[in-house]
Amino acid sequence: MKRSEINAYINEAKDFIARMRFALPPFAYWTPEDWKSKGGEYDEIRDNQLGWDLTDFGSGDYLKIGLFLFTIRNGNLHNKNCQKTYAEKLLVVQPGQVTPYHFHKSKMEDIINRGSAGENGRLNIKLYNSVDPHTLDETSPIGVSVDGRNYTVAAGSVVSLSVGESITLHRGVFHQFWSDDSTLLLGEVSMVNDDHADNFFLEQRGRFPEIEEDEKPLHLLVGDYPKYR
Ligand SMILES: [Fe+2]
Repeated sequence: MKRSEINAYINEAKDFIARMRFALPPFAYWTPEDWKSKGGEYDEIRDNQLGWDLTDFGSGDYLKIGLFLFTIRNGNLHNKNCQKTYAEKLLVVQPGQVTPYHFHKSKMEDIINRGSAGENGRLNIKLYNSVDPHTLDETSPIGVSVDGRNYTVAAGSVVSLSVGESITLHRGVFHQFWSDDSTLLLGEVSMVNDDHADNFFLEQRGRFPEIEEDEKPLHLLVGDYPKYR
């Protein structure tokens, strides 16, 4: 993706998140210049991959297959000194934009529909159990937990969440999600998140975009930190 596109999507997301009256932590607003003056006391942000993150999952078409994220907090499975066992993210989903089938082996997560640009936009989540990382289980029912209601749905069912609702996604359950007609602000509350090793995509996917540097970054993405240490 071009850096100019990434900058534009960050600007759009900042406006949308502000409209949804969600306040981001201070490091969301640091410029690349600011980062140069941030020493080792901020390594938790760099090492645990907090901050802006955006992906087209290698599709080349971000608005069709892509996701915008901001990681607010996270632990670190590779650092024994990090006591944090939980994570929190914000996600912004555009209408018609799909996050493709994947599951996690380590992370259990809740996805929350926190707000929508239009009237009560719904988040649709299609679910299958997994046979293995490359195979959907087309037959077995899936145990679902939606805001304290525990029930089962048939393989391939779509659970639709209105604003305020959330779903718990258990480990090994394939999920694909999208919004039909409204930009949505989602929350993710989960166990420690490791985007380098714990996303098992049904189809071969990239998790971090290749960036064409056609202008300066407005804010750093999580993948940019090593370049600005
Ligand atoms: Fe997930």
